[in-house]
Amino acid sequence: MSGEQLIREIGRSGVEASAVGLGTWAIGGWMWGGTDEAQSIAAIQASLDAGVSLIDTAPAYGLGRSEEIVGKAIAGRRDKAVIATKCGLVWHTQKGNHFFDQDGKPVHRYLGRDSIIHEVEESLRRLGTDHIDLYITHWQDATTPIEETVRALEELKAAGKIRAIGASNVDKTELQTYIQTGSLDAIQERFSMMDREIEADLLPLTHQNGVATLSYSSLALGLLSGTIGPDRVFSGDDQRKDNPRFSVSNRQKAQAFSEAIRPVAERHEASIAQVVIAWTLAQPGVTFALCGARNPAQALDNARAGTLRLSADDLVAIDAALAAKLANMDG
Ligand SMILES: NC(=O)c1ccc[n+]([C@@H]2O[C@H](COP(=O)([O-])OP(=O)(O)OC[C@H]3O[C@@H](n4cnc5c(N)ncnc54)[C@H](OP(=O)(O)O)[C@@H]3O)[C@@H](O)[C@H]2O)c1
Repeated sequence: MSGEQLIREIGRSGVEASAVGLGTWAIGGWMWGGTDEAQSIAAIQASLDAGVSLIDTAPAYGLGRSEEIVGKAIAGRRDKAVIATKCGLVWHTQKGNHFFDQDGKPVHRYLGRDSIIHEVEESLRRLGTDHIDLYITHWQDATTPIEETVRALEELKAAGKIRAIGASNVDKTELQTYIQTGSLDAIQERFSMMDREIEADLLPLTHQNGVATLSYSSLALGLLSGTIGPDRVFSGDDQRKDNPRFSVSNRQKAQAFSEAIRPVAERHEASIAQVVIAWTLAQPGVTFALCGARNPAQALDNARAGTLRLSADDLVAIDAALAAKLANMDG
């Protein structure tokens, strides 16, 4: 594996970033059994040092915790990072619709102009920067027209506070509305070898319209990392604890899949996670693959996937292993 780090453009924004992105949901701690700040900062800095410029965060990840940790990690090296963060999951107001509680605080889905103008300043402060490279509506808000939300984001772009506009967790109709505004640069959606729903409805639309797609949970919350065996125990509020996705039978299937693609990994002197991430980036319409990492070892492992180029034969072998080993999974 000796290629250059793969770089791609975020839609038609002119903003370029590494195709492998570091996801920092787990770094916020919430739903992942807590966080270790020193390890998290080291993971972010290891990513930047390895050429992974795209760092994805959100206010909702630990009610500002993840953004604050990203801010500490990029201090003094802001120019190396392409920061994506989000708006629309709020705890400063109860407008919109209630979504969940975090640390006893009700979090609402709300994308009104008043709230976005407030939120962007909070994110800039926590991140310690004067601009956000990609600003994404985190979950959609049925109480605010998409056109109003996009006008607010366009205002922020004109003011130089954000450089590109994205939307996450959209359905096909919402995506069409965003595309019609002419201002959408990217979507961010769940996509991995185990979660391919967007291939049918969203990816053809983004592909045709020059909109980038960032896959999230690209390693299926770690199940596809090649390291989670039947004995792994999840503790605290780790969302994987009672998740049928992590049943013993699924973990065994994931292990069998890892063994089936090991020859591809060995041919490239790559890890299983690297092959999975490179496969993700080879799928038509998938522009960026976001991968969570909580320590420098995981961060470096994932960063090297951006230098791995799979051949057409490799992709055929991986697809055959997928069909044979990852069919009929729980959850
Ligand atoms: N827009 C949205 O609604 C949304 C939703 C979900 C995620 N996201 C974004 O997408 C990012 C990525 O998704 P994700 O974090 O949910 O899941 P993921 O990338 O599929 O899995 C991340 C987890 O996999 C394990 N892992 C990662 N790399 C590894 C490696 N090389 N070797 C061994 N284990 C490895 C780690 O878990 P361990 O704890 O087991 O070490 C890590 O926390 C998020 O961080 C977030 O930025 C966005």
